[in-house]
Amino acid sequence: MRKNYVLIPAAGSGSRMGSGLPKQYLPLLGQPLIHHTIAIFAAHPAIEQIFVVLSPEDVDWTAPACERLTVLRCGGDTRAASVLNGLVAIGGLVDSLDWVLVHDAARPCLSQQLLEHLLDELQHDVVGGLLAVPVADTLKRATRDGRVDHTEPREGLWRAQTPQMFPYGLLRQALQAMDANAPTDESQAVEFLGHAPRLVLGDGHNLKVTYPEDLLMAEMILKGNL
Ligand code: CTP
Ligand code: MG
Repeated sequence: MRKNYVLIPAAGSGSRMGSGLPKQYLPLLGQPLIHHTIAIFAAHPAIEQIFVVLSPEDVDWTAPACERLTVLRCGGDTRAASVLNGLVAIGGLVDSLDWVLVHDAARPCLSQQLLEHLLDELQHDVVGGLLAVPVADTLKRATRDGRVDHTEPREGLWRAQTPQMFPYGLLRQALQAMDANAPTDESQAVEFLGHAPRLVLGDGHNLKVTYPEDLLMAEMILKGNL
């Protein structure tokens, strides 16, 4: 039976949030934001173990009460480096065909239903895939001076979210193959090897907290008011 592992990259500084504290530690309904993120996976019985990748310089981490959690202090300069370092660190524990769900620390509003949906949809997939949502807005290509050059067709365009779920061996090989050209998500690295990851329909509630206003939105979603 293939096991499901979760790897949460949490070694970023949250520069766009503009707060002194990295955004994964900002208070959200009375707890550090990342505690909410970890709790989603800790509550799911099909998750074998949760790994959190921190920066080696991190001084803000506090551990939540969670038995299946392991902290790895091997974060890198980019998200891709943090994920790859984490994968290398867990190499002795995980089989090549086990699933790894990589999930941003900064996405605390993933619902149990959506996690369940992703696990169900991809359990028998040969490649793996990711949660994503079709682009809803009209897209404009900008000129250098901030005017509209033209309108881009949005047909077939999706916004990638996380979790991104791939077999351990494939994901590690893909991230190693891309190396210096740091991909912005795991799917991009797997695509680079010539595979076509599956798009699994996510939802807008699974937002990534990036700017201060996102924190308020996350609070409303977690309270069930959105
Ligand atoms: N991340 C990481 N290692 C890095 C950079 C990012 O583990 N060197 C993690 C972040 O902690 C976050 C996730 O990757 O959980 C998504 O990245 P992003 O939202 O871009 O977070 P930051 O890089 O921290 O924010 P910013 O880009 O605004 O600086
Ligand atoms: Mg970033």
